This record gives sequence, C-alpha cells and structure tokens, in this order.
Amino acid sequence: MPAETVTVELGRRSYPVRIGAGVRREALAAAKARVDAGRRCAAITSPGVAGALPDFVAELGRLMPVLVTARDGETAKSAEEAARCWDFLAGNGVARDGAVLAFGGGVVGDLAGFAAASYQRGVEFIQVPTTLLAMVDSSVGGKTGINLASGKNLVGAFHQPAAVFADTELLRTLPGREFAAGMAEVIKHGLIADADLFGLLEQNAPLAWNHALLPAVVRRCVEIKAGVVAGDERETSAHGGRALLNLGHTFGHAVEAVAGYGTYLHGEAVAIGLAMAASLSSELGRCTPAQTERVRAVLTAHGLPDRLRGPLPVDRLLEAMRRDKKVRGGRMRFVLLEGVGAASTDDGVTEEAAVRALLAGGAAR
Ligand code: NAD
Ligand code: GLY
Repeated sequence: MPAETVTVELGRRSYPVRIGAGVRREALAAAKARVDAGRRCAAITSPGVAGALPDFVAELGRLMPVLVTARDGETAKSAEEAARCWDFLAGNGVARDGAVLAFGGGVVGDLAGFAAASYQRGVEFIQVPTTLLAMVDSSVGGKTGINLASGKNLVGAFHQPAAVFADTELLRTLPGREFAAGMAEVIKHGLIADADLFGLLEQNAPLAWNHALLPAVVRRCVEIKAGVVAGDERETSAHGGRALLNLGHTFGHAVEAVAGYGTYLHGEAVAIGLAMAASLSSELGRCTPAQTERVRAVLTAHGLPDRLRGPLPVDRLLEAMRRDKKVRGGRMRFVLLEGVGAASTDDGVTEEAAVRALLAGGAAR
C-alpha cells in the first residue's frame, strides 16, 4: 500500500502525518533539507531504539548529532533527562532556527518534544515514532512532557511537530508486549469514535505488525486523533473534545502510579482503565453490559489485560485519581462510553461509582 498523508489542521501550524512502509526515508530527506540549509539540528533516541534500529540511527548520525537517553522507560521522562537534552542542544550549537528529531516511542517523543518546546523558547520538532502507541497516538497532537516524583506528565507544553513520519516497517523489531500495549490506544480510538474500527479489531484479532490492514488502522487512528486535536487543541472544551482521548486514562494513570512505574506498560494500564471505564459506563446506564463484555473480549484477544494482575488498594488508586490533571474545580472528570464508537465527559460521577469500577477491575479494599 502506498504511503498516505493525514493532515492535522491547525491553521498556520498544520502539519502532515505520513503513514506507511518506508516513510522513514522521507524523514531523512526532511532532516537533510534542513541541514543543507545551514540549520543545526539534533536527534534524540533511546538505548533500546538505537539497539533495535541501528541502521537508521547511523544514517541520522551522518546528518546530525544524536543523543541517546541514559535509559528507556518512564524514568527517562525526567527533569534530569530534559536537562541533558537542553545541554546537548546547546553544546551542539542548535539555534532558534534549528530542529529536534525524536526517534523512538512515546517516551522519547514526549521528552524530545518537551526539550524542543522549551529550548530557546521553542525550536522546530519532527517525530519519527517507532512504537505502535507512538504512531497512533503520542506523536500526533503536540502534547509533550516529563514526569515528577509526584505524578506523571505534570510538567510539559503543547508543542506541535512540523511533521510526523510513521513508518510501519519500524514495528518489525518491536517486542510483542509493546505492540499489544499500542493496541490499547487503537482500541480506545475505536471506542470513542468509530464502531467500524472496533468491529474490525474484533474480527482480526490479534492484529500483527505485518498484517495487511495495519497501515489502514494506523491511518484511521491518526485521522480520529487529528480531528479531535483540530477541534480542541488545548483540551479546553467544557464537554467532550480532546478529553475524550483520555478514555480509560484516569483509571490507567492511577494503576501505573500505584503499581509502580514499569510494573504495567502504559498501554497495559490503559487497557485495564478501558475495562474499568466500560464497567463504570454500563453501571451508569450509558452502555450495556454486553458492550462492556465486548470491550473486555477485544482487549484480551489482542493480548492485553482486562483487569489488574494482582490486587491494588482501592483507596490509593482513588487518591491517585484525585490528583489527575482532568480534575476540575475539585471534581473528578470521567470519560464514559455511550455505547461503542461514542463517548462523553462527565463531572458528576460519584466516588462510590468509581470505587465499584475499581473493585470490578481487581482492586481490593
Ligand atoms: P516507550 O517509548 O517506552 O517504548 C517502549 C519500549 O520499546 C522501549 O523500551 C523502547 O526502547 C522500545 N522500542 C521502541 N521502538 C522500538 C522498535 N521499533 N523496536 C524495538 N524496540 C523498540 O513506550 P510507548 O508505549 O511508545 O510510549 C509510552 C509513553 O507515551 C508514556 O510515557 C505515555 O505517557 C506517553 N504517551 C503520550 C501521549 C501524548 O499525546 N504525548 C499519548 C499517549 C502516550
Ligand atoms: N493522549 C491524549 C491526548 O493526546 O490528548
């Protein structure tokens, strides 16, 4: 299938997301054009990505200096690593007209994007995502950031990339567990906006990296995300809007934090959160118990957990949820399923109902 383009429509800041096998070469061409124009650029990647995809990193290295983060995983999204990025950019003479290229998963994209957003008050940024999660979600939409000891993504900036190159061939080396984690965000996109996509995921489970439908699935997710971002870039809508992309995330972020970062992959925690959000939605009569069962079934069919692997204390999960960035005026904001393919935000969900969803997902009193 030839590569395709989805445009994120943001006026003068609109940008293309190129999707398909081989588009990494377009990323190299885009980088070379900048370097040839005399602009100092730098790339940021991680040890795992550099080890799995050394040829592309070597090609990048012939064009520009490449920083390999000290480690992989959530702990790389730290103030310490951001400072290493800033020093690397400064040490290599990157100026206001320079650019930062992120080559990696959501961790590298969020970190490098934040470095690009903040260095010299903002330099250009290009994303070359290497995980399914980054291709369908984190590389698009301009949310960048790092974690604090007190919570995930608590420091960050909106900084849209100039272009995204999602080369599905790069998924060849992605470990199966990481691929499955990305499927959680794919399933989320179907649940919030596209019942047909959800049905396709039910009928073709488990979808592998080289399945003929994968590029089209990535494209559909990017289309959905691009549409949501274009309508509510900074997540300020009073109802719905960009917050819908957080279906399952209030629960999921709490699971990640309470279990300890790294116990569950981000996508696995989101999967558990999707199942909890579905059971909350059916308890509130917004979707049916049968639809909740479909959510659980599609998660497990794609190799994802639909409940906690071991019990976590419900009071600690609730405490983490109260710190969620979606809290407005002291009230937790939940994203609820309105059947399959539609969702809404709700500020009126009681803590008792949230507790019942946590318990249904394997939390313990
Ligand atoms: P990740 O970036 O940690 O990558 C997962 C692992 O796979 C890493 O060990 C990495 O080295 C390895 N890897 C990456 N690509 C590979 C490849 N092609 N071959 C072999 N190994 C490869 O994890 P992720 O799931 O991509 O991203 C999770 C992060 O994304 C979280 O921090 C989450 O908060 C963030 N996120 C951000 C947004 C956003 O809008 N900015 C959206 C969703 C998630
Ligand atoms: N992943 C949530 C967002 O981009 O808004």
